[in-house]
Amino acid sequence: MATRSIVAGCGAYLPSRILGNADLAKKLETSDEWIVQRTGIRERRIAADGEMTSDLAIRSAAAALKNAGLSGNDIDLIVVATSTPDETFPATATRVQAALGMTRGVAFDVQAVCSGFVFALAVADNFIKVGQARTALVIGAETFSRILDWTDRTTCVLFGDGAGAVVLVAGEGSGSKDDRGILSTHIFSDGRYHDALYVDGGPSSTMTTGHLKMEGREVFRHAVVRLAEAVDAAIAANGITAAEIDWLVPHQANRRIIDGMGHRLGLPPEKVVLTIDRHANTSAASIPLAMAEAAGDGRIRPGHLVLLEAMGGGFTWGSALLRW
Ligand code: ACO
Repeated sequence: MATRSIVAGCGAYLPSRILGNADLAKKLETSDEWIVQRTGIRERRIAADGEMTSDLAIRSAAAALKNAGLSGNDIDLIVVATSTPDETFPATATRVQAALGMTRGVAFDVQAVCSGFVFALAVADNFIKVGQARTALVIGAETFSRILDWTDRTTCVLFGDGAGAVVLVAGEGSGSKDDRGILSTHIFSDGRYHDALYVDGGPSSTMTTGHLKMEGREVFRHAVVRLAEAVDAAIAANGITAAEIDWLVPHQANRRIIDGMGHRLGLPPEKVVLTIDRHANTSAASIPLAMAEAAGDGRIRPGHLVLLEAMGGGFTWGSALLRW
């Protein structure tokens, strides 16, 4: 027997304001054609003035709880993955906890940039496996629009705001790959690559919030190798073949990276969940947003084998394999 973290529900929230490539081309030397060709992005959502990461997180969490048929006080653990917290402290997760009417248990943030959701899922899964929580809410929520240099065309066209959440509940499995729930998580980091992707500010360095800096080509080069490593780890640990995967739900950073991974796994494009065209890169929110969309429209169904993968600043990277 093995304890498994089973997905009981998921939810998403996107700010209502849509910023299209053509809008950006009015202010920057860029074009819809360049952005679509290099990234697959057509538009992104931008949080309204005063709308904070916690606001997005709370809405996605409320949707996930409703989908699971649970309320805030049924939850033992909230893990919010974000690199754009409301404030330096306390954790954005504690705001979510209060807003959901959850007066017990524990809530905290995890920071692994674009890999944040996979890291948060790994943390929650391990809490459930050791019996320290029976129910968990795992949220990816970001307002990257607040840390972008809107005059830097090499970065500002790539990101968007949003939030996605999943509810996990403990269940018993046989310990085989046929169990429902999270079958494995693999997370990695290598701090030597800090300078390739970082924010040039923070409370203990510049005492400002700072802006995102990225050596896009360098990140791209590493992403291809690191994502393959994370995906291979998931496949090997579970003794599956790539052909058994029903859905690849990748972090949505670049269409070319996503297509490359789908191709490497031999998956037809219709088995890869894509939201990058409408959401752009929402960092830690991109995977739960994509999962909520594909589960909500009936593509991902109970029994399906779902592979998640992500790579982000740090560098951080990882994968999770789960049976819906
Ligand atoms: N519009 C028009 N031209 C542009 C733009 C733009 N928005 N941005 C850059 N260019 C120009 C460059 O200045 C350069 O011009 P030059 O040749 O005259 O110098 C040219 O386009 C090519 O630039 P590259 O950076 O080489 O373009 P590339 O094909 O590498 O695409 C991109 C850039 C989209 C950023 C790509 O490298 C990428 O997706 N990298 C990975 C990003 C990623 O995966 N991030 C994940 C982690 S994110 C996180 O953790 C927060």
